[in-house]
Formats: sequence, C-alpha cells, structure tokens
Amino acid sequence: MVTIALGAQWGDEGKGKIVDYLSAEADVVARYQGGANAGHTVVHDGRKFVLHLLPAGVLWPNTVNCIGAGVVVDPVALLTEVAQVEAAGISLAGRLFVSHQAHLIMPYHKLLDQLYEAQNGRTKIGTTGRGIGPAYVDKHARVGIRIVDLLDPPSLREKIRSNVEEKNRLLAKIYDTAELNVQAITDEYLAFDKRIDPYVKDVSVVLSEAIHSGKRVILEGAQGTLLDVDMGTYPFVTSSNPTAGGACTGLGIGPRHIDRVMGIIKAYTTRVGEGPFPTELGPEDAGTNLRERGDEYGATTGRPRRCGWFDGVVARFSARVNSVDVWAITKLDVLTGISPIKVCVAYAEETRTYRHFPSDSRILSHVKPVYEELQGWDEPLGDIQSFSDLPKAAKDYLEFIQEFTEVPVAMISVGPSRNQTITK
Ligand code: IMP
Repeated sequence: MVTIALGAQWGDEGKGKIVDYLSAEADVVARYQGGANAGHTVVHDGRKFVLHLLPAGVLWPNTVNCIGAGVVVDPVALLTEVAQVEAAGISLAGRLFVSHQAHLIMPYHKLLDQLYEAQNGRTKIGTTGRGIGPAYVDKHARVGIRIVDLLDPPSLREKIRSNVEEKNRLLAKIYDTAELNVQAITDEYLAFDKRIDPYVKDVSVVLSEAIHSGKRVILEGAQGTLLDVDMGTYPFVTSSNPTAGGACTGLGIGPRHIDRVMGIIKAYTTRVGEGPFPTELGPEDAGTNLRERGDEYGATTGRPRRCGWFDGVVARFSARVNSVDVWAITKLDVLTGISPIKVCVAYAEETRTYRHFPSDSRILSHVKPVYEELQGWDEPLGDIQSFSDLPKAAKDYLEFIQEFTEVPVAMISVGPSRNQTITK
C-alpha cells in the first residue's frame, strides 16, 4: 500500500503530525522534494521535535526512512538533525537512507538566496533563506553537486572549484560582496564523506523492493500544492514539486504504484512569505485571531503566518492537480468559538466569477472571495475520540468541505498530540 501524504494549501498544514500518526503502521517513509526549508513540528511520546529534512517517520523505530533524489540536502542540517534524534535515544543506524542522486545545498546557495531577496528590482519571494532556489537552479543548469560526489573526492574538488569560481565572479561583479574561499568549502565538504557514507543508497531500489514485498509506504511531501513551482502561485512558490507528481520523479517510482493520495489541509488557511492569498484576513478581522489561536508562527523561520478563512477554490484545485482521494483536516479545534465561519466558494472580479482556481498571481491578487457562512460551535474539541462525538456544527463544516470538493474527509486532528488525530 503506497500513500502520498501531501500539503494541499501553502504549506504548514500539519503534515508532520499526520505523517507521524500514519508512520505507526508504516514500514517505509520517504521525503520526495524540498530541503531544510520545511519545518515539521511533531510531538511524539510527549517530546517535541522540529524536523526539517528527516522524514517524520524517523521517530518510529520500526520504519525505514528515505530522502529521495528530488530533495536538496544541506549536509550540515542533515547531520545536526540526525544527532538531535539520536540524542533522544532514537537510533537511525540502518534505517535512514539518502539518495546518491540528491543534490547538495552549498554555502554559496544560501548566500545567493539572501542576496537575491535583498536585490532591488527583483521580486521578493519571502524565502526561508535556506538556499533552496539557487540549489535547484544549479541542478537544472546541470552544474549541481550531488551526494554521490561526496564519495569521490577528486570529482568533488573539481566541481567545487568550478562552481565557486563562477559564483565568485557573480559575487564580485554583480553583488559587490566578498568572495568565497574554494579551499575552505572543499575541506568542509570532503569531511562529510565518512559521516554521510553510511546513509547513501539507491532510494529508488529500496522503495521498489518495499513495494514489491507489499510493505506499507508513505511518500511525504514538504511545503504545499500552492507553492509548487509549476502549479502554484508563481513566482511566489518554492523551487520544487510538492504536488503528487513530484513523489514519482523525486523518488524514482512509477505512478502505477501509488494507491492513495491523502491531501492534508488545515481547517482554515495560512501562508508565509509573499504572494497572493485571496481569503487572507486583514486587521479589520482581528476578532477571529486565528494566528494566536492556532499558534501560527513558522517552524523554520519563526515568521508570523498570514491567516485566513478556508478556501474551497484552493481545496478543489488541489484535489484536481493531485488526484486527492481523501482529506486529513488539521487544526479543526482552532475554529472553536468562532461564529459564523466563512468558506470561500468562488472568487469575484468586477465582470467575472472564478469557480476554478486562476493560477495567475496577477488575477489572484485582486479577486474578492465569495463566502458562504456556516454556523460555528463553542464546544472544545480536544477530548473527542470519534467523528460522531463532534458537535453538529463541526460535522456540518466537514460535510460542507466534503461536498464542495467531492473528496471524503478520512481523518481530522483536533490538537497537537497523537491521540487527538481521529480516523473515520
Ligand atoms: P523557499 O522554499 O525557501 O525558496 O521559499 C519560497 C516560498 O515558499 C516562500 O514563500 C516560503 O515562505 C515558502 N515556504 C518554503 N518552505 C515552506 C514551508 O515549509 N512551509 C510554508 N512555506 C514555505
């Protein structure tokens, strides 16, 4: 059974918590794109972990965890995270595998990410500053350095030299910034060889063997559908494919092996970084106070998240581009005490109504959301054990989302701990 678990909004849907929950019954968990820009906060056995690169399955000792070719790996971040998890008494020996084909984040990627964002005349994206965009640029320009290069010192030396020399010309001539030292970067990266070596594997083969022997496999997306470089609100996107197709290319699996796509979606909407967000609540709607109620601050950068009502147009779009089979709706408890609750069912312009998501940031930045209002509820949801325990208004809310998107709700979460995730 192979399940893709992906974000259906602009990231931060609570994927870490849902994947951690699913991992209790999984054999293999594999990350397929993104890098240390992701931030999954998982409360496991009463302990809080913030994972950036490691799949959320690592906290379950019986799972094998993979980082696929589509991920861009910052070796410093990877080894720091491995050390943190092992310090908590969770061993990763023999159960963490990193694809030899995954590209490396280099120090110049992080530097360029920050310089691009600060440059006048260039669209500011509000990136996480983790070097993600520049690393994918090098990958697609075919000058990237991969995990496999760490295991071949002469090739690594040569690739670092030619990359740093080229980047130094850019730093000096365009950005008027101090040049980077080839030798220092080479020494730093040569030293990763022995430390990364035990984890390097052909992840496509690991997954193929697991799938053919009937194992339960979860393919874990980072970020979300609306941040997809092809399908999202371009240019305000990340540089990879968090959508379902990215799971196949990022891990080396054919689409026939995918049995189920689970769309993870928050009961309202949030976004970090720049870019259009039709249902965003401005200061005049401060009464809902979603940011404080939902503790909406970024796990990677600590930035306050922009918050707004559930956007059904976005949900329908995500259902379509990912073939979502079921929803996992997170943070339903955060809506307790808010009434009415609004759900966006279309976007309006002066002369036109959009029922399908217009993937053009210029249109999205000026459309007005068309809302339906639903009755809220006052009962706290934290202790409920089953869907049938939900107050009627909360059931109606889920029913509305289900009917509007034509996708069944299979799971909800009503609080941070594991027993607050409820399956239908
Ligand atoms: P980058 O991925 O750091 O290049 O950032 C590009 C855009 O994606 C920015 O708007 C970021 O805020 C957003 N982004 C990247 N990673 C995440 C995430 O894990 N959650 C939410 N937004 C993210």
